Amino acid sequence: MLNLNFHPAGRHFLTIPGPSPVPDRLLRAMSYPTIDHRGPEFGALGLKVLAGLGQIFKTRHPVVVYPASGTGAWEAALVNTLSPGDAVLMYETGHFASLWKKMAERLGLEPEFLGLPGAEGWRHGAQADRIGERLRADSSHRIKAVCVVHNETSTGVTSDIAAVRKAMDAAGHPALLIVDTISGLASADYRHDEWGVDVTVSGSQKA
Ligand SMILES: Cc1ncc(COP(=O)(O)O)c(C=O)c1O
Repeated sequence: MLNLNFHPAGRHFLTIPGPSPVPDRLLRAMSYPTIDHRGPEFGALGLKVLAGLGQIFKTRHPVVVYPASGTGAWEAALVNTLSPGDAVLMYETGHFASLWKKMAERLGLEPEFLGLPGAEGWRHGAQADRIGERLRADSSHRIKAVCVVHNETSTGVTSDIAAVRKAMDAAGHPALLIVDTISGLASADYRHDEWGVDVTVSGSQKA
């Protein structure tokens, strides 16, 4: 039977993308009494948090916070920008890119997986030149979005998102660039505005 009372003793020193070690001062802050979620204090705190998040994503655009895991953020990014039947170019970098593609299929999108064959594919980040080549061949602009996992947690390989944007621009293709930086944000360099990303998804429980 699963023991739900299990609580590992002591500090965790294994630094993996999640569960992440939480600094003591944050753990202590979580023991404060809750504040009125309709009161002025909460409103002021919320605005401060949203402004701070903008600095982390390196964006001047609005950041949306809502309760879901990273998987929920994947879904929100796809269903709020695309429609069933839309073709989507997704890059196979590893396990999480594969799960995102399966979700796209379940949502009625038509994902095309680009990547190197077999195990070789999981040893490399997204290759921008291959994305550019595929987009150039799509002269009717059927492909509505390019989806890339910034830091592929399953392999530890990070993709060059700026290079992907450059390749998309060089191909003169209007597809949206949607990036998962669920385990990358705040640990690997990430720049939503400068890199020309249209939608970035992340999660608070990872890096
Ligand atoms: C890169 C990446 N994308 C998506 C997910 C899914 O996030 P969650 O487990 O919070 O649903 C994870 C989880 O580890 C991840 O590492």
